[in-house]
Amino acid sequence: MYVQHLMGLSGLLAAGLFIFGLKRMSSPVTALSGIVVAGVGMVAAVAASFLVVFDLMHAGNDRLGVNVALALVALAVGAGWAWWKGGKVAMTAMPQMVALYNGMGGGAAASIAAVALSGDAGGSPLILGVTVIGALIGSVSLTGSVIAWAKLDGKINHPWRFGGQRIVNGVIFAATALLGVGVVIFHGVPSGLSLAILFFFGALVFGVMMTLPIGGADMPVVISLYNAFTGLAVGLEGFALQNPALMIAGMVVGSAGTLLTALMAKAMNRSLSNVLFSNFGDLSGAGAADVKGEMKSADASDAAINMRYASSVIIIPGYGLAVAQAQQKLYEFVKLLQAAGVDVKFAIHPVAGRMPGHMNVLLAEAGVPYDIIFDMDDINADFVNTDVALVIGANDVVNPSARTDKSSPIYGMPILNADQAHQVYVIKRGQGKGYSGVENTLFYRQNCSMVYGDAQAVLTQMVQSVKDLGA
Ligand code: TAP
Repeated sequence: MYVQHLMGLSGLLAAGLFIFGLKRMSSPVTALSGIVVAGVGMVAAVAASFLVVFDLMHAGNDRLGVNVALALVALAVGAGWAWWKGGKVAMTAMPQMVALYNGMGGGAAASIAAVALSGDAGGSPLILGVTVIGALIGSVSLTGSVIAWAKLDGKINHPWRFGGQRIVNGVIFAATALLGVGVVIFHGVPSGLSLAILFFFGALVFGVMMTLPIGGADMPVVISLYNAFTGLAVGLEGFALQNPALMIAGMVVGSAGTLLTALMAKAMNRSLSNVLFSNFGDLSGAGAADVKGEMKSADASDAAINMRYASSVIIIPGYGLAVAQAQQKLYEFVKLLQAAGVDVKFAIHPVAGRMPGHMNVLLAEAGVPYDIIFDMDDINADFVNTDVALVIGANDVVNPSARTDKSSPIYGMPILNADQAHQVYVIKRGQGKGYSGVENTLFYRQNCSMVYGDAQAVLTQMVQSVKDLGA
């Protein structure tokens, strides 16, 4: 009784800490402490689970001793591996690490269900049904996340597509769902176990099949969706086990993942079904209007000196900055401009880069102060009164076709108004298109010049040119 109350209280404490931690993660200034707070919540939830087991052991269930020992070994291995891996992961490899951890969550929920479904202990059809649904979602999240990791890590380089793929996937899903119904009906009889094995096999295969056709660049949205799936699976298993901490953790993760998925899709002006079932990112200019004119190129030194004598500069970082790992050099350049009296700001598009907050994390890593970093809605009106917009390794997020060209695949995607600045400089390596595969009409405009080269090399040259000018 006493332990039941303590467990409920720990669940409540964990829920409060998760929500408070999430709230703090909404600003870069408080994000780090938010992660610590949510971590403490997780410790409270784990401690509550151990408390229950110890109570059962105290009541005479000695067999649980082996389980506790196994759980402690698993905790030590998992925590040790995460501590070591988390400390050395590169910023560009963060999305694939998130994918793996997410998959582990789905796998854990599916494992809980597997234990429940393989035993003889009865449960009401409702509890069994919830367990089966959680198992299905958790298994899909596990194998889907592993495929997402392999794609982001370059282990799988091409989407795997074939004619009738959606029908095949539909059949696998329907068969798995039917098997799930069978698992509920035949639970406890010998044939039920074979059905359960087939059901898990179908769910795991479906996760692979669902993710293989999706293009690598869409993986952050898919990972976020699987994150929501994992939360849902954990919440359902928590319900089946009547464990409040699991239920709450699952609900928090599920709703946060769903919101994040919706926000990412909205910022790209795409529906979730478009992400899951279209071949976006494989276009070769399809739907883009014919672009007239030529791209002009500018010398890195000329561009740097121009900015040194400007009064305002807005910098737009994109995926290419992360690829070049040029954030430190960029901040060095910014400090030189500021020392010369230039008003420098950063403009961040919600989906610049390849994962939510990618650019904010990159700039924070270089030590760029938060008060000169602005979200799209807060800075878009400033471009008209700005001398120079400096676009570094960004493409789609500054493409004016999104505003005007109804035939463009990115039509309707909100963009940064870089084209409205008096002068635009774009640093990129060549004439390669952005992630959407659409030609960028900004690059052909009168007020735009291209500074060709790797962002790291170009910025190094820019820093040197401003230094050479002296004070
Ligand atoms: P992109 O449109 O992908 O453009 C990046 C540009 O960087 C490319 O045009 C490339 O041109 C250049 N580049 C690559 N390596 C470089 C290097 N080493 N030095 C200099 N330039 C380099 O990036 P963006 O503007 O950041 O837009 C993000 C895109 O990803 C959007 O379409 C968005 O919808 C999509 N997306 C984002 C997310 C999230 S959450 N962030 C999720 C899913 C999809 P060159 O090859 O010519 O150098």
